[in-house]
Amino acid sequence: MNYTLITGACGGLGSAFVTVLAGRGEPLFLTGRDENKLSRLAESLRAQFSGLAVEYFPCDLCDERSRRRFFAYCDGVNARFLRLVYVAGADVQKGFERYTEEKLVMQTRVNFEGAVSMIRAVMARSDLDGKTEFLCVGSVSGIYPMPYFALYSATKRALWQFCAGLREELKGRAKVTCVQPGAIPTREDVKRSIAAQGLWGKLAALPPEKVAAKSLKAVEKNRRSVVVGFWNKAMRIFTAPIPLSLKMKFIAAKWSKTEKDAF
Ligand SMILES: NC(=O)c1ccc[n+]([C@@H]2O[C@H](COP(=O)([O-])OP(=O)(O)OC[C@H]3O[C@@H](n4cnc5c(N)ncnc54)[C@H](OP(=O)(O)O)[C@@H]3O)[C@@H](O)[C@H]2O)c1
Repeated sequence: MNYTLITGACGGLGSAFVTVLAGRGEPLFLTGRDENKLSRLAESLRAQFSGLAVEYFPCDLCDERSRRRFFAYCDGVNARFLRLVYVAGADVQKGFERYTEEKLVMQTRVNFEGAVSMIRAVMARSDLDGKTEFLCVGSVSGIYPMPYFALYSATKRALWQFCAGLREELKGRAKVTCVQPGAIPTREDVKRSIAAQGLWGKLAALPPEKVAAKSLKAVEKNRRSVVVGFWNKAMRIFTAPIPLSLKMKFIAAKWSKTEKDAF
């Protein structure tokens, strides 16, 4: 059975990917940290989409031993993969002075180390016959350095850069895409943060289902990187000629006013 492996499957954006792909009848392999949430999601998918193949297994992507248990389970059920959708991520946003060691380790590992580890695992369990797809969820926050969101921004930039390099290595054997969405109203704290940004937040925000559909289209077309949403694309183009020092001042002024803490 050739599955689509979705990390962060129970989260706001992850569950939108799950719904879109389940609607297409694609066999799904779901993961997240909480086995009960995964089991409930799998059950509701089987009830809603009869005949849908759904497999799940919990994994803390920050923990190497947990990842090894996950890979062993995959091999135990002879899972093969057609596609990886790496959605898991931690969007902690605050001044770096206010980070604890635990938060910085978690954010760095789930946003980057977990992604490259899952990509390697899927590579080893797929045909790499030109149809295999690797889709990673980056962020527009990875386009420029982001004061008060500096670590998140750096991990998303690293993810984008890794995917771009890997794409060349796998040319003709797999498609590799890193999408860069703007704001997505998922968790309540994210919704509050979007609301606090006023008109800017409204213009930049796209519903999770739209982001999922556009992202899947981007990897299907084998795009290297796609900024998701008209406003976000326009911002990317219009801000490009502005000197970085000015951009930094603007970003610092804007982002020092809000905080969010993903876990
Ligand atoms: N929301 C936005 O405005 C926005 C904008 C741009 C990019 N993004 C990116 O979109 C992705 C999804 O964000 P979201 O808004 O849907 O957030 P979310 O609802 O908090 O989902 C995050 C997911 O990541 C998983 N996760 C976190 N730490 C993990 C760990 N250590 N091991 C395994 N899974 C872990 C969580 O799984 P469990 O809790 O189930 O274990 C959860 O399903 C993230 O990569 C984020 O950076 C979001």
